[in-house]
Amino acid sequence: MSNTQASTTQEYVKWFRHSTPYINRHSDKTFVLMLPGEAITHANFHNIVHDIALLCSLDVRLVLVHGARPQIDERLQVADTFSHFHKNLRITDSETLSFVIQAIGEARTIVEAALSTSLPNSPMQDADMQVISGNFVVAMPYGVIDGIDLQHTGKVRKVQTKSLNAALDSGAVVLLSPIAYSPTGEIFNLSFSDVATHVASAIKADKLLAFVEGTGAIDADGNLIRQLSLQECKEYLTEEGSNISFDMQQAVSACYLSCLQGVQRAQLISYSTDGALLTELFTRDGVGTMIYSGQYEQLRQASIGDVAGILGLIRPLEEQGILVRRSREILETEINKFHVMDKDGTIVACAALYPYGDMAELSCVATHPDYRNGGRAAALLQQMETQARKQKIKQLFLLTTQTAHWFIEQGFVQGKLEDLPIAKQELYNYQRNSKIFIKTLD
Ligand SMILES: CC(C)(COP(=O)(O)OP(=O)(O)OC[C@H]1O[C@@H](n2cnc3c(N)ncnc32)[C@H](O)[C@@H]1OP(=O)(O)O)[C@@H](O)C(=O)NCCC(=O)NCCS
Repeated sequence: MSNTQASTTQEYVKWFRHSTPYINRHSDKTFVLMLPGEAITHANFHNIVHDIALLCSLDVRLVLVHGARPQIDERLQVADTFSHFHKNLRITDSETLSFVIQAIGEARTIVEAALSTSLPNSPMQDADMQVISGNFVVAMPYGVIDGIDLQHTGKVRKVQTKSLNAALDSGAVVLLSPIAYSPTGEIFNLSFSDVATHVASAIKADKLLAFVEGTGAIDADGNLIRQLSLQECKEYLTEEGSNISFDMQQAVSACYLSCLQGVQRAQLISYSTDGALLTELFTRDGVGTMIYSGQYEQLRQASIGDVAGILGLIRPLEEQGILVRRSREILETEINKFHVMDKDGTIVACAALYPYGDMAELSCVATHPDYRNGGRAAALLQQMETQARKQKIKQLFLLTTQTAHWFIEQGFVQGKLEDLPIAKQELYNYQRNSKIFIKTLD
């Protein structure tokens, strides 16, 4: 075996081992995948299907909701006709409806065919995925908006959760199209994001995964936003809504609404990057944007009013020698370096970031004992990494005496004193003998 082959094998083995906790975490969970029509015609579509097959074989319960907007536009164009829109909603008259039915039928068939592949020597070998589609969604007309009758454009009235869950329990992938019927027997053209959002909250999905063209939500400076709390997501839609594409707006809104209605997490994932779905689900940092609910807790920059709360949290840890002692005065001067997790006005976790050129020290990471093991420190760490990236920091470092393993699990590796900025090396306390850990930010 050549050196290159050996190192590739090692990388593979390492990646596979690191993905084990996520394999266990996702097994038996329910995910709703939102696949826009553009993704179905994209060159990466078949890779996405392979990754869906992999999720299915790991016992993830999957509902796939596809869109068909470009397919509908194409049908209309070929027929040399077009549809009117009102507030971004297509007005589906009877003529348009027949094109909508054809385009959605074709898109659904392409997805179903791809999911049914089980060719030998391909990632789909022996996949034998069962795909179930049906009238799981009941529609109603959108009605007349601003005096304009949207005719066959509809919205979700309810989701038949019992039969949908039975289909998922049978091990099948449920494939839903943006078309549904009303109890009066009429056909309605729906928005696929409306279907996905309603289904995700009705079946209490664990995740909504919304495919988008780019990597995820982008801030005003062009940086990828790794995560957004519900409140931040709302602010993002208000502040950036007019600067982002309609597709992105639709995807972020779907994530926001699902989380608001009880889905724990929603993620924006690229449909144009090979492996984005797997990287998002099976690596610690992911590659897209995560929107999380947790309505009662807010992760935010600390202010002077938080000094007492932070002191209450860190004093016991300082007394145990886990954290280095800080006076109230120092904390007050350095308060802008801190981020806190605020639960109804109580500080339940904190962390601080001290820049040294293109490195920064992560310090004072602590979670109140009553609130541990809920992923709070990990979320804070992600927030600090986002802050650091914004400040063009390349590496994070920290000194610890008792928490080495937690940081290793968060992607830090042990370093040496010489790896630290000179100013920090000079302050190193040999008696305390802390271990040094470093994480390179991508
Ligand atoms: C380390 C600490 C910040 C983690 O906070 P948290 O909000 O519970 O963190 P998370 O929920 O993201 O992670 C919890 C996991 O870390 C593990 N963990 C906690 N302390 C650990 C330690 N000292 N070493 C290794 N793993 C540890 C927990 O067992 C749990 O593992 P599990 O998910 O397998 O059950 C918290 O335990 C704490 O405040 N400790 C005291 C202060 C401290 O050591 N700070 C670091 C100073 S350098």
